[in-house]
Amino acid sequence: MNIVILAAGTGKRMRSALPKVLHPLAGRPLLSHVIDTARTLDPARLVVVIGHGAEAVRSAVAAPDVQFAVQEQQLGTGHAVQQALPLLDPAHPTLVLYGDVPLTRASTLRRLTDAAGQNGYGVLTVTLDDPTGYGRIVRDSDGEVLRIVEQKDASEEQRRIREINTGIIVTPTAPLAGWLASLKNDNVQGEFYLTDVVELAIEAGLDIVTTQPDEEWETLGVNSKQQLAELERIHQRNVADTLLVEGVTLADPARIDVRGTLECGRDVSIDVNCVFEGRVTLADNVSIGPNCVIRNATIGAGTRVDAFTHIEGAQVGAQVVLGPYARLRPGAALADEAHVGNFVEVKNAAIGYGSKANHLAYIGDADVGARVNIGAGTITCNYDGANKHRTIIEDDVFVGSDTQLVAPVRIGRGVTIAAGTTVWKDAEAGALVLNDKTQTAKSGYVRPVKKKT
Ligand code: UD1
Ligand code: CA
Repeated sequence: MNIVILAAGTGKRMRSALPKVLHPLAGRPLLSHVIDTARTLDPARLVVVIGHGAEAVRSAVAAPDVQFAVQEQQLGTGHAVQQALPLLDPAHPTLVLYGDVPLTRASTLRRLTDAAGQNGYGVLTVTLDDPTGYGRIVRDSDGEVLRIVEQKDASEEQRRIREINTGIIVTPTAPLAGWLASLKNDNVQGEFYLTDVVELAIEAGLDIVTTQPDEEWETLGVNSKQQLAELERIHQRNVADTLLVEGVTLADPARIDVRGTLECGRDVSIDVNCVFEGRVTLADNVSIGPNCVIRNATIGAGTRVDAFTHIEGAQVGAQVVLGPYARLRPGAALADEAHVGNFVEVKNAAIGYGSKANHLAYIGDADVGARVNIGAGTITCNYDGANKHRTIIEDDVFVGSDTQLVAPVRIGRGVTIAAGTTVWKDAEAGALVLNDKTQTAKSGYVRPVKKKT
């Protein structure tokens, strides 16, 4: 099969510099969703027709299996398909999709192509309560399709027809060149309509078959930010329903956003307003508190992520406690039973088994061993203004509050660092590390008093 995706239109109503088909749904361009669905049908040729913002669209979705046809002027859907013709295999049917209709299911497309077979002409149609704006399916008294009439060209009577053309069609490819070449643009919009091919196919003796999608939203397109927002909600609700079916507990299926893939084990629970991006894996019994943002991360069994925690590019072990208000940045790796608490940032650092940094700390470019306690206010000074350096903290170290570890530095096993220490030299195992400081107290001190004005 050949698949042609029309994506040359301007999308004026988006009121945006970004080409319409590049607007994101669930974090990815609309067009990428269509291309992914197309791929599941295993097409021999996959051609995207680009025009408005052609180069931006091309570079956004370029892939070895995607070819591009440029439609310099947007003269209509028939003209758009014509631009793709040289790239199609005439021996196989061609399925036409729209780059701004992102949620069509592969099963719906397969039903259409199966119904049309090798030599039939298939149209995906739906019956809408309000068909305004769409092309209407005109049938004869036997119910056979006669033609498709655009809203703007339709008579009063035709406008009462509620069965509409979704725009998704499948056609034999060999005769298509001739049909498209004979299209006329003598219609209200002055365009070469792909829909007019129906009458030419009937004249050529083809059967016009119609099939319907399981769900109306599969055929909804994006022309405005309102429609984009509606489709985003439909998509997110579908994702939430899939998670619920898999056994995930969602505090509110209307308040979760998955922009990528979220894989969950058994008995995972997710509280409200969480955003998942990229590839996220949650193992059995993970619980995610409200308002967490988790991107490209794996989280081990039984781990609890409390409210307002941000995780990106991190690996988290089992039985870990994270947050509230924790931040894991790329390269953070937490071993089992670690605790990382409020206002603790971990970047490019390993935290060993059972180690704890419960409050207000920055751990960057570090290797922290097992059972280490990191006191509040501890900072790895990893950056000298030019280069980054590592801090090594071996097992069973106790880091007192408000400690600065000036990297590169190594703290040996079992070292105790007193509160308020600046550590700039390596410490050998078992040592107590502190800075010489004196504490002075002057008795009878009188505080300044605010002057009266
Ligand atoms: C089209 C159909 C209409 C159908 C509706 C469904 C035609 C003539 N009409 O109407 O029957 O009910 O879709 O949404 O086909 N495009 C190009 N190049 C062009 C024109 C369009 O690539 O020259 C692309 C657009 O980017 C868009 C798609 O084709 O993705 C549909 O174009 P649009 O102008 O939105 O068609 P409609 O008038 O909505
Ligand atoms: Ca449209």
